[in-house]
Amino acid sequence: MKNSMSRRQFILAAGALAGSAVLAGCGGSSTSSSSTSTNTDSSASDDSYTLVKDGTLTVVAELGFAPFEYMNDQTGDPEGFDVDVINAVAEKMGLQCEYLPNQKFDTLVPLIKQGGKADVSIAAITITDEREESVDFSEPYLDSNQAIVALKGSTETEATLNDASKQVVCQGGTTGNDWITENLPNATCVPVDDVTAALTGVQTGLYNAMVVDLPVAKYMLTNSFSDLDIIEEIATGEQYGIAISKDNPNLTKAVNKALEDMKSDGTMDSIETKWFGSTI
Ligand code: ARG
Repeated sequence: MKNSMSRRQFILAAGALAGSAVLAGCGGSSTSSSSTSTNTDSSASDDSYTLVKDGTLTVVAELGFAPFEYMNDQTGDPEGFDVDVINAVAEKMGLQCEYLPNQKFDTLVPLIKQGGKADVSIAAITITDEREESVDFSEPYLDSNQAIVALKGSTETEATLNDASKQVVCQGGTTGNDWITENLPNATCVPVDDVTAALTGVQTGLYNAMVVDLPVAKYMLTNSFSDLDIIEEIATGEQYGIAISKDNPNLTKAVNKALEDMKSDGTMDSIETKWFGSTI
């Protein structure tokens, strides 16, 4: 159990939690839990934290956001940058890692706030003041920006899109959604659940453009939507963090410690290189 398990070793665990869950081997030993591990005993040491399931870091995400998190069609397992990051975090904490079934993006922060289902959400979630009212975030683990995507050869710009005749699509509840509302007030903003459906809609002319995280736009256009273009990069200066309940501050501390270790021991660099071809 010491070495990282391959993603093939994710296994389905029916009925483990509220519904069936995907188990991701984290390579951590569940027997190595120390005083910092699961604790529901109020008499235990101060740095103890609670977990939904003993020995396991239970993760929830919206799994349609490549290269950060997506389902491998063949195996049905979650894959991506964030999946590697949270597996490595869990491994550092001596925990197994288990993904709940896919959830809509705009339910993730409320679900962590509510508690009881998942310990953390890692889903390319931008740290925002508004979200910080509901949940705590780990230290940022990646910088990001937004992109406007339209058909290749399109003459659209930010200015032409800000018109009552224009439909601009986004994933509902995202910072892209907020950006459209604030910066294209004259356009019709169309929030949808699924990024692939949104991009397909831009491809077929249903929407004039999409606003989405830049790394996702780059990845999706290179891999699946070669007839679309990034017509503008928007320097929003966002940072991704892992969302954790405010009732579990020591879990945030333990996750931060794991992230710190991953930065200093090269784990983070190797995950970045794997997914982005270089460190960011
Ligand atoms: N970074 C953006 C936000 O936080 C988009 C995240 C979408 N993530 C996802 N897994 N669908 O709003």
